[in-house]
Amino acid sequence: MTDENPPVGGIDVSRPSVARVYDFWLGGENNFASDRDMGSRMAELNPALPQLVRQNREFICAAAARAAAAGIGQFLDLGSGLPSHPAVHEAVREVIPDARVCYVDIDPVAVLHGEGLLARGEGLAAVQADLADPEAVLANPKVRTVIDMAQPTALILAAVVHFMPANEAAALCAEYMRRSAPRSWLIVSSGHYQDKELASRLQETATHTRFWNHSAADLASMLGGLEPVAPGVSEARGWIAGTGGEPPATPVYPLVAVATKPGQAGQPGPSAEPG
Ligand SMILES: C[S@@+](CC[C@H](N)C(=O)[O-])C[C@H]1O[C@@H](n2cnc3c(N)ncnc32)[C@H](O)[C@@H]1O
Repeated sequence: MTDENPPVGGIDVSRPSVARVYDFWLGGENNFASDRDMGSRMAELNPALPQLVRQNREFICAAAARAAAAGIGQFLDLGSGLPSHPAVHEAVREVIPDARVCYVDIDPVAVLHGEGLLARGEGLAAVQADLADPEAVLANPKVRTVIDMAQPTALILAAVVHFMPANEAAALCAEYMRRSAPRSWLIVSSGHYQDKELASRLQETATHTRFWNHSAADLASMLGGLEPVAPGVSEARGWIAGTGGEPPATPVYPLVAVATKPGQAGQPGPSAEPG
């Protein structure tokens, strides 16, 4: 994609988008001058940002692969971003070759490229929807072709809960899990700054969106009454250590949490009922 040849659909490329700035940090090509400008200014303030997003992607794939190893065969990636490698479907299909994956994002460029990448894939879909509306997302016909919510599902909310206050994120996670079958998984990550001053300087640069600097307690609140998967709320690098050495500590890092919904598959409890 080039700035001279924008995608169809009347997308405003003069305003940076979270999805495309993230793609820029990941070394992708689906970004425009406005995205690169904002991404570069933020990375000047915090040169660890590209490393942070890479750690986050490695966490997502490690956690999803662990869910697949536990027998989860379908994955709903909410706020999935632009396609990047390794993608969730690549990671989980190493474990379950016909695992089904639905990518959901509000950004039209992310969905356009997701559709292009997945067009020929059985059991894969990319859907444009607002994750803040679980009822609409789960009723979406394209989502339903790939995801059967009566079966255990892994729900991924990676690097997206930090765009909403902790209480809203906790309510949203609770609602998705209420609508999920027993034994479903919740996989969450959030950027986290120990340096509060750096966090506010970055916020001044990232004028297009508001960032909530969630704490470990905030992430724990998003798990509600689910059963945490070890090591519980932790830094993402804990999940990827051993794949080439311990990644260095950075001034910002993803805080992550993985948990499962109690109960037995095939015995949907009241929380699996619609609406
Ligand atoms: C920082 S990126 C994270 C991408 C991917 N989850 C990852 O961790 O690598 C956040 C993504 O969430 C998407 N997003 C933000 N708000 C959303 C919403 N309300 N509904 C759906 N997607 C949303 C953005 O468009 C962007 O692609």
